[in-house]
Amino acid sequence: MELERELESLEGEIADRLKSVSSLEELDSIRVEYLGRKGKLTALLRRMGQLPPELRPVIGRKANELRQRLESAIQEKAIALKEEGKRKRLAAETIDITLPGRRPALGVKHPITQTLERIKEIFVGMGFEVVEGPEIETEYYNFEALNTPWYHPARDMQDTFYITDSILLRTQTSPVQIRVMESRKPPIRIIAPGKVYRRDADISHSPMFHQVEGLLVDRHVTFAELKGVLAAFARQMFGPETKVRFRPSFFPFTEPSAEVDISCIICGGKGCQTCGWTGWMEILGAGSVDPEVFKAVGYDPEEVTGFAFGMGVERIAMLKFGINDIRLFFENDIRFLSQF
Ligand code: PHE
Repeated sequence: MELERELESLEGEIADRLKSVSSLEELDSIRVEYLGRKGKLTALLRRMGQLPPELRPVIGRKANELRQRLESAIQEKAIALKEEGKRKRLAAETIDITLPGRRPALGVKHPITQTLERIKEIFVGMGFEVVEGPEIETEYYNFEALNTPWYHPARDMQDTFYITDSILLRTQTSPVQIRVMESRKPPIRIIAPGKVYRRDADISHSPMFHQVEGLLVDRHVTFAELKGVLAAFARQMFGPETKVRFRPSFFPFTEPSAEVDISCIICGGKGCQTCGWTGWMEILGAGSVDPEVFKAVGYDPEEVTGFAFGMGVERIAMLKFGINDIRLFFENDIRFLSQF
């Protein structure tokens, strides 16, 4: 019965080995070790011939049954291992669909662009057409035709970037007035937004900044209409409660001229630090077109009248957004720009 005991101990041995198997490769090597052509069980079966003939069928049957049990145990274990592998893979691949997505960073329009667009929108709403002129200008358009003679302080080298004796970076958008009037006949109703340049740099001055020029020319245009247009603009730009004040001033190309203030948008006119306790903030220059300017473009000052105005876009943006340093607009710091 030596063979029978060996069969039994083989069964126990395999059962132990199967318990600790952790991979399909290991399982296969166990199968080969016991059931393969040179396996331990196969070797045992080969020794059947040594048994007395009457025992052979009994032991033979036991051996076959054992072989079948081992085969199915190995198969079961293989299925279990595959299942386990699949479960682990699925757990590792799990995605949490409740996590919020990562939003791509979206850019915003520069506050100056936003302000410019709003200004244009308001004037287009009042029937003005948007036109543009060159940033590199001649002395004639920037000064001469605007009734600004050579001895005027605005032509001082300190204010103007000259390219040659007679070519310069425009210091204002007013030369667009001249270009438009030279190329058209009245009635004219335009605004001209754009960049201007001055030799100036501090907390409220930048060597490049933006202006919006306005020009309206027709028969019988009065200063009252200028006031109406600018008051309508101020109320749309800064709110319906906004008041406007015209102070006498001087520009070579308008007569009479005015500087225009709005009631302080911080304190509403009571007086605060932002408006220097005056209750007012200056936003633009304006006036009736000087007859000398009409003469320069070949219009008859007895026939037509008109008004013009010019405003600084940065200044308006600073008031509107509560920004206290003009240089912030041009540093391109994303932390600043992304707030608008
Ligand atoms: N061009 C003037 C300036 O830059 C502003 C202005 C424009 C004044 C039109 C009157 C009329 O200061």
